[in-house]
Amino acid sequence: MYRNMRWLVIASLVVLALVVGACGTPAPPPPEPTTPLPPPEDTPMPEAGTLEIFSWWTAGGEAEGLAAMYEVFEAQYPGVEIINATVAGGAGMEAKAVLATRMLADDPPDSFQVHAGHELIDTWVVAGVMEPVTSVFEDNDWLDVYPPGVIEVLSQDGEIWSVPVNIHRSNVLWYNTQVFDDNGLTPPTTLDEFFTVADALQAAGVTPLAVGDSGVWVDIHVFESVLLASMGPDAYRGLWDSTTDWNGPEVTDALEAFAQMMEYANEDHSALSWDQAAQLVVDGDAAMTIMGDWSEGYFKSVGLTPEVEFGYVPSPGTGGSFIMLSDSFGLPEGAPNRDNAIAWLTVCGSQEGQDAFNPIKGSIPARTDGDRSLYDVYLQSAMDDFASNEIVPSLAHGAAASEGWVTAFGDAMTLFVADLDVGAAQEAMAQACVDAGMCQ
Ligand code: GAL
Repeated sequence: MYRNMRWLVIASLVVLALVVGACGTPAPPPPEPTTPLPPPEDTPMPEAGTLEIFSWWTAGGEAEGLAAMYEVFEAQYPGVEIINATVAGGAGMEAKAVLATRMLADDPPDSFQVHAGHELIDTWVVAGVMEPVTSVFEDNDWLDVYPPGVIEVLSQDGEIWSVPVNIHRSNVLWYNTQVFDDNGLTPPTTLDEFFTVADALQAAGVTPLAVGDSGVWVDIHVFESVLLASMGPDAYRGLWDSTTDWNGPEVTDALEAFAQMMEYANEDHSALSWDQAAQLVVDGDAAMTIMGDWSEGYFKSVGLTPEVEFGYVPSPGTGGSFIMLSDSFGLPEGAPNRDNAIAWLTVCGSQEGQDAFNPIKGSIPARTDGDRSLYDVYLQSAMDDFASNEIVPSLAHGAAASEGWVTAFGDAMTLFVADLDVGAAQEAMAQACVDAGMCQ
């Protein structure tokens, strides 16, 4: 019964994989039953073999950050060969589909990238295909160096299920400082200011907002900031536990503001990716973009410096709140090189690993004891905000809601971006909550 449920969940992910058309792999054979695995304390020190790490980090900043963490691993385990299994595509839309197919075929990588929160728990842990990593935390004395709130979103049934490498912020508006200076503008802090600034930029012949929503996750991403701006952190949190009504006026306001925002976007937005949109800002072809702080990693990867060529403020109307998400790595059941995978997780969770990765990635360490001096002015401000702001979860990146809900929400956004019909979009979003079993 349990095993049936587990494969039902994975099978539905594979259907999703086929629907998004990200993988042409032939139908896999039925999985062999997995043999019981020895406990971590029996693990020998890995000295040889391979280690396959699955992620979607291929863009500027992401790829270099991952490479820096690989270097830490390689220095500690020189005999182990890393296989860098990446599937390109922001927010893992394509990677997650490929991963689901592989997991169903009983062909897991040794470790894979997964967002902390609902994506980890509802997709993989509930399906019964992960090994807990609580012992890795205990063996390394990590229980006191991660914030309790972070441990909580990684936990289910008294076990911890993945090792977080970072904290990212979703609600950031990035801008080209030269374009703002040339036009005598200051970065907008409210939605009203955003529209005033956007009008001025448009009058000056500059595209106000760079959007690269070839993947619908970017629309969800921008919209979560607008939702937060229109209702504040308490009501925003309530959207995910049914205490805020999806049919309410703040959701209507948010949809109207989003529709208005899209009027200021580059015309080819649906053909571009998030990093191509960031490049428009780099080149001064657009003035602003609303994106997570992996954009910081991207800007730095093309040679820019924060507060010199690019600036940043919380997305309009969201000052004082921090929409968080966390990338983590997990240990799938049946990992072919389990000892090496545990060694990898040990590097992921270490101070050295996180301090090598995050300054390049554009994220802050998930640990509380990162070496602040290694982080630039933007990242130090993110550390301060994470310590003092209202923390709310990201919908677009697996923290706020189950993947099924995010997919249904994305379908509503796809239609909305095409027709900008506020009433229909609100109805579809309310229905998505009902279908997810979270609203009456
Ligand atoms: C997010 C992920 C980030 C970054 C971004 C764009 O989902 O958490 O680490 O990679 O996608 O690809």
